[in-house]
Order: sequence, then C-alpha cells, then structure tokens
Amino acid sequence: MENLYLMEERTKIQVLYDACNAIFSQKELPCFQQIQWLKNILDIFEAVDVGIDEFSLHGTPQGLICGHAVSNITYIHIHECDEFSIGVFCFPAGAIFPLHDHPGMTVLSKLLYGSLYVKAYDWLKVEKSSCGIINGVASTVTDGILNAPCETSILFPRSGGNIHSFTALTPCAILDVLSPPYSQHLGRPSTYFSDFPIPSLPGYAMLEEKNLPEDLVVKGAPYLGPPVEVCMYRLEEENSFETSLTSPTFFRQQF
Ligand SMILES: [Fe+2]
Repeated sequence: MENLYLMEERTKIQVLYDACNAIFSQKELPCFQQIQWLKNILDIFEAVDVGIDEFSLHGTPQGLICGHAVSNITYIHIHECDEFSIGVFCFPAGAIFPLHDHPGMTVLSKLLYGSLYVKAYDWLKVEKSSCGIINGVASTVTDGILNAPCETSILFPRSGGNIHSFTALTPCAILDVLSPPYSQHLGRPSTYFSDFPIPSLPGYAMLEEKNLPEDLVVKGAPYLGPPVEVCMYRLEEENSFETSLTSPTFFRQQF
C-alpha cells in the first residue's frame, strides 16, 4: 500500500525519470519487460505533463509553453546524464527534421499532440568510404503519418528505424527518451543522411552521409513542467556535464 501511495504522489515526469534512472543505470542492457514498462509510462503522457499547453497561442495563466505559438523547431531540455536524456521537441507546422541516426542508442518517442510524417530506415549494409563518408543500403521501416494520441515509438541500435526524419504536418511535439545520449567525445555523434530510393528495389534506399544541414536551427526553451527530483549522485554528474545537445555536431541550437 505504501508503494501505491508513493506512485500516486509522483508526477508523470518524476515516474518517467525514476524508471529511466532504474533501467538505464544498471550494467546490463534493458530487457524487453523494462522497455515495455517505460513505453507504458510514456503512453499516458500529455503535453501538459511537460509544461506545454498544446492549443495556446498567447501565453497561459499557468505559464506553460504555447504549443501552437512555436515558430521554430524548439528543444526543451528536461534531464541529461551519462546514461539517458529526456527532452521535448516542438515543431511548427511544416518544419522538417532531416534524416539522422542514433548510434548505439535505444530511443522512445511519444507524440504528445499533432500530426507527424515519419520516414525511418535500418541499415542492411553500411560502410565508411576511404574519405570517411558513411553510406550503404537501408530498408524502409516506417513511411507514414503518426496522429496523436498514439502509442510510443521505439527504436533500437539495429532495428525499429534507427535512422529517421520528421515532417510536422501540424504543430506537434515529441517527448524523447534517449539511452545513452548523443556524445561526440564518446563516439556517439549524430550523422545526417540523404536518401536515394532504389527504383528496382521498392522499400530500399541508398543512404549517404551529408553535412549538418545549414538550415537546421533548433531553438532552446526552458522546461516549465513539474520539477524533476534528481538522484543526489546524478546531481554531481549533471553539474560537471557539458550537454551534448549544444554540440554543433547534433544541431545548431539558439537560445
Ligand atoms: Fe531522432
């Protein structure tokens, strides 16, 4: 009964943080049941749970972020440590986040509101050319539209659509959990790709690495949702942590 009482007292974001902390801090890779547990937690998230008022255009009495007033792709950083990161991407209608990968990562993404076109691939065969360009053949995993409310999407290092792009069909927002987070110095940079469909092989494409797109600018916005209580030893980690999301290798971030 005591545990049940504690569960009811915690906010959804606290439950998510605690679950991530338990699952991603262990030495072993998470098992299927643990990923399913996280998915179930994310499945019931709504925009207001991370401080966003989906429909507001001009501010809210509660001081939430106005989802429909976002005019650039915006990243709301909630938490990042060595093992995982939690954050929200808000998109205005028409915004495109180009094709990019998630090296060695497990990513859970919950579309909080709106409508999003997703294209996702997994590598069939990948190599690095003599000049260091990553290219290869990939199979299409997703080529369709997500409409909120919908289930949480999950991608893994080698399956589930590890390389993906987004086009916002309406204003929308995605709550993302990444484990481990991007890290240039730990060999987990984000790489961007162009895709070239193979006419003779429907469902397959050639992917070729390209530079960080010039027009990809991601603004930063403060997290205005319920506070997240971080483990004490994690606080020490955070204070000495230089967030990888400010790295120009992931995207250009403006504050
Ligand atoms: Fe992504």
